[in-house]
Amino acid sequence: MSICYLNGNFVELSKASISPLDRGFLFGDSVYEVLAAYEKNLFRLDDHMERLKKNLQSLSINIALENSEIKSILQKVCEKNSEKNQIIYLQISRGAEAIRNHIPIKETQPTIFICSFELKNVPSEKNDPITAVLNPDIRWKKSSIKSNSLLANVLYKMHANDEGYDELLMSDDGFLTEGAVSNLFCVKEKKIFTPPLESNILPGVTRKVIIEIIKDINLSCEEVKIDEEFLFNSDELWITNTTKGILPVIKVNNKKIGNGAKGEIYRLVMKAFLRKIEDSII
Ligand code: PDD
Repeated sequence: MSICYLNGNFVELSKASISPLDRGFLFGDSVYEVLAAYEKNLFRLDDHMERLKKNLQSLSINIALENSEIKSILQKVCEKNSEKNQIIYLQISRGAEAIRNHIPIKETQPTIFICSFELKNVPSEKNDPITAVLNPDIRWKKSSIKSNSLLANVLYKMHANDEGYDELLMSDDGFLTEGAVSNLFCVKEKKIFTPPLESNILPGVTRKVIIEIIKDINLSCEEVKIDEEFLFNSDELWITNTTKGILPVIKVNNKKIGNGAKGEIYRLVMKAFLRKIEDSII
């Protein structure tokens, strides 16, 4: 049994329902967050809340709940579900209206939905490396918003899966942006590089944590534009996100990255990342 929160009530997930006229369903007019809870401790909750607030503002969606109330609901959903490690999914849409119309009605009440899934692959030094395929970035120019209009990302993941790759990386005009569901880091001669936030990417919470870690362990991290040639000549390539943590990419388009194995900088950063997770558990 899985317990979720929907518009003020905690209910069994299989019994939760919303209107088919919800703008999230009709227009993808909604934002979301994906949080990891390790041993029921929500990892980097404040960072997720800050991003959510910005996203709601950018869509002009006003919710009646305070930040502290959402935090407490997130924690309750986590407590009400039995899995030790969870992925907490939150989605806030502009709400349901009687007639389908692109222009929203001001008084419409947002739909707030929070549920939990088991986090099966907890970050570990034993995590397997992955492979990726590179494609042009065909998304709109506001990919910094964590919106549910995810059609491009869905098609990308289907394509990568069909071709036997784990992730799809995107480049815009020859410069890397991000993965279909992740941010990217390259290592060259012990220096670490990641595309800047200005390159139409999601400001990933894991990306932020990894940049902090790199600085903490006295390595260099530059937020700069990365071209495709640089990518293929990198010693290491990693993807980061909430559900996978940090994973090495050892092959892109069937070309080996570095020596085609987990890199030494990856191992250092991963160790520090696991320590951060440990420290978040109380
Ligand atoms: N996605 N870029 C994109 C396009 C993403 O979809 C994600 C995460 C990230 C990494 O963000 P974060 O570190 O905050 O998880 C970057 C989530 C996991 C998803 O859509 O399921």
